[in-house]
Amino acid sequence: MSDTRQSLTTPQPRPAVLAMPEYHPPLAGRSALRLDFNENTFSPSPAVLRRLRQITAEELTIYPEREPVERIVAHHLGLQPGQLILTNGVDEAIHLIACAFLDQGDQAIICTPTFFMYEVSISLMTSGLIRVQTDDTLRFPFQRFLSAITPHTRLIVVASPNNPTGATISRDQLLTIAAAAPQALLLVDEAYFHFHGETVLSDIADVPNLMVARTFSKAYGLANLRIGMLAGNPALIRYLRKVSSPYNVNGVALAVLPEAIADDAYITWYAEQIRIGRERIFAALQDLRIRTWPSAANFVLMDIGPRHQQLCALTRSRGVLLRDRSSDPGCDGYVRITVGVEEHVTLGIAALRESLAEMGWTPAEGRGQA
Ligand SMILES: Cc1ncc(COP(=O)(O)O)c(C=O)c1O
Repeated sequence: MSDTRQSLTTPQPRPAVLAMPEYHPPLAGRSALRLDFNENTFSPSPAVLRRLRQITAEELTIYPEREPVERIVAHHLGLQPGQLILTNGVDEAIHLIACAFLDQGDQAIICTPTFFMYEVSISLMTSGLIRVQTDDTLRFPFQRFLSAITPHTRLIVVASPNNPTGATISRDQLLTIAAAAPQALLLVDEAYFHFHGETVLSDIADVPNLMVARTFSKAYGLANLRIGMLAGNPALIRYLRKVSSPYNVNGVALAVLPEAIADDAYITWYAEQIRIGRERIFAALQDLRIRTWPSAANFVLMDIGPRHQQLCALTRSRGVLLRDRSSDPGCDGYVRITVGVEEHVTLGIAALRESLAEMGWTPAEGRGQA
């Protein structure tokens, strides 16, 4: 009865809000080794920490000014200032694009499994979301993806490397997709660029419907400050500036970002740690005869089979968090491990080995790679 009265008196949101999916990442109780969210497991650059300590009380009282820092970041990446906007993480970048470019009835295409926020932001604007599912190889299904494009396609979002698979899409394939859908915006999410090294950033000058997203949450270790960016044709960036709050990026993030990008040596070191750690994790999983997929990112997906939850609970009890990806489409039984710095990889592998031994796990359970 009281529920009915509540629904009579409470204003209702748009039908799209009622229908859209919700994203509730498991954030609680993460005081352990965090190999669950693909974060930097160590620290941002020491130069960032120095700048943070210098932040004054007055700096905190001022509304943040984004544009001077956008000029610095653009220069660092060899872009014009008009080709770039800083955002409150890539999460906000996706949201701004959906708000600016999608209307009800428009079609948007993603490749699943992928980062869930695409679905959230797209569903807020249109019910025309098309999901192209990968097959068992988890490779990008290029031909089927191309076939999904129609004259109603207004937005295409792909991540390369993709999360949670680690799969990549070649530059040729991305440019073919952009050319096949000139009426649509193609967003290439390069959140894991530093662990892969390939990019289409320089193509934004020639491809008018291409946008590239990058985050400072991963290699740079700034997930808590919420800062990312979008690069693209200046005409596209102008629309996003219209939609965005002028204060979308906080002043602490803006203060440290120039320090973070100036310290190339730190990012090179961190990316190298990840490349080495990724190989160690692959070797350990092969030794345990656990099926994996090639990854160009700072994580590896593995097939544990029906006892995926038990494995995550057991590593947690040993102080190591993994991410159960079983509810992602096509990922039943799959668990993801973030690659961190050397000592964290060592702890992660030990927790995996001990937990699997405690479970009496056998390769047959996860269709192991014999
Ligand atoms: C592909 C991808 N894009 C974007 C993000 C989020 O980036 P940000 O922290 O900048 O919002 C993630 C985080 O896991 C991701 O996997």
